[in-house]
Amino acid sequence: MRAELGYCSLLLLLLTIDVWGQQTRPRARPKPPATKKPPKKEPEPKEPTDFPPVIFGPPSSFSDCPRECLCPPSYPNALYCENRNLRKVPVIPPRTHYLYLQNNYIDSVTADAFDNATELKWINLGNNRIRSIEKQVFEKLPNLLHLYAQRNQLKEVPSNLPAGLEQLRLSRNQISKIAPGAFNKMEHLALLDLHHNKISDSNLAKNLFKDLKNLIQLNLAHNILRKMPANIPTSIAQLFLDRNNIEDIPPDYFKDFTKLAFVRLNYNQLSDKGVPKMVFNISTLLDLHLAHNNLNTVPLFNLHLEHLHLNNNNIESINGTEICPSAPSMDPYDLDSMPRLRYLRLDGNHMNPPIPIDVIMCFRHLQSVMI
Ligand SMILES: *[C@@H]1O[C@H](CO)[C@@H](O)[C@H](O)[C@H]1NC(C)=O
Ligand SMILES: *[C@@H]1O[C@H](CO)[C@@H](O)[C@H](O)[C@H]1NC(C)=O
Ligand SMILES: *[C@@H]1O[C@H](CO)[C@@H](O)[C@H](O)[C@H]1NC(C)=O
Repeated sequence: MRAELGYCSLLLLLLTIDVWGQQTRPRARPKPPATKKPPKKEPEPKEPTDFPPVIFGPPSSFSDCPRECLCPPSYPNALYCENRNLRKVPVIPPRTHYLYLQNNYIDSVTADAFDNATELKWINLGNNRIRSIEKQVFEKLPNLLHLYAQRNQLKEVPSNLPAGLEQLRLSRNQISKIAPGAFNKMEHLALLDLHHNKISDSNLAKNLFKDLKNLIQLNLAHNILRKMPANIPTSIAQLFLDRNNIEDIPPDYFKDFTKLAFVRLNYNQLSDKGVPKMVFNISTLLDLHLAHNNLNTVPLFNLHLEHLHLNNNNIESINGTEICPSAPSMDPYDLDSMPRLRYLRLDGNHMNPPIPIDVIMCFRHLQSVMI
């Protein structure tokens, strides 16, 4: 306890000195006259020329610890450099496995900082101003598993990504360019998050996802797609496509998926015409989101579906007999064989309560319906 207090006050002292140092640093500005005029107000920092000063870390027992970072003695493989107003990546010590650089002002990532950091497994570069990542960076990082670079200003997917990568987060950038081979050989990639970019149909090359044999989650929400993305790995369990301009789904689109459990298509342009009758009759599907589209009827679904979001469409009625998925044995006393739907949203359509009796008769597991 005492040691911690001592450390804290030392940190405080260092920070105070640093702030004081910044304020008294001479500036290339004419000195104010030595009269007793009130001091001129400092102009607000104007980006990108004037960022707030870099915040230095506490003294470290590691001689290779960058001054801007925290190197906790108990985690020699972690390097914490987040929230320090950094403009560039410090030189990364070779012992680093986990690197935290989020919430800074870094605008490019050059290879030199990673010269000896060949052991890196995780890098978090989220919420910076990165426009470019030199491709030589990744040549030096064969062990990289997680790369997080969400909330930056990237216009394209970085090239030369390591083949062993398991998670890639590039959401909230301005990506509109993806090289056709950007994800080649990435057999271990489980999560690919590209939501909130500027990706259109033509940016997705035909075989872009072909090598992603172990992909579990693909997030392409909040882009400018008009079609369902083609050739998505059939290993996928979670497909998120909310907030695009998708109008239709090809009839056999989900045919070969064997693990698909979560599909989100909220805020698109789907109408009855664009949704083939059987397209969502997928036996693995648990959770289906179709809110904020232009549907007039409830699409058919499988008896394993548990959550269905149909709010804010143009649905006028629901016929429980027509949509009731037939179970292998419709034994009314065998609840396990009954359709599994538990949660149903129908609010924001052209319907009023009560919930039709045939809906209640079919879906015995229903716990919550919003109408
Ligand atoms: C990398 O390691 C070599 C050999 O130990 C050393 O000479 C060089 O200065 C290191 N580079 C950086 C950027 O730390
Ligand atoms: C939906 O698919 C199941 C197989 O998973 C099938 O038995 C069932 O008949 C299909 N539903 C309809 C309405 O065709
Ligand atoms: C629901 O559909 C069934 C079968 O198509 C039909 O017999 C029934 O009249 C419909 N119910 C209502 C309330 O329209």
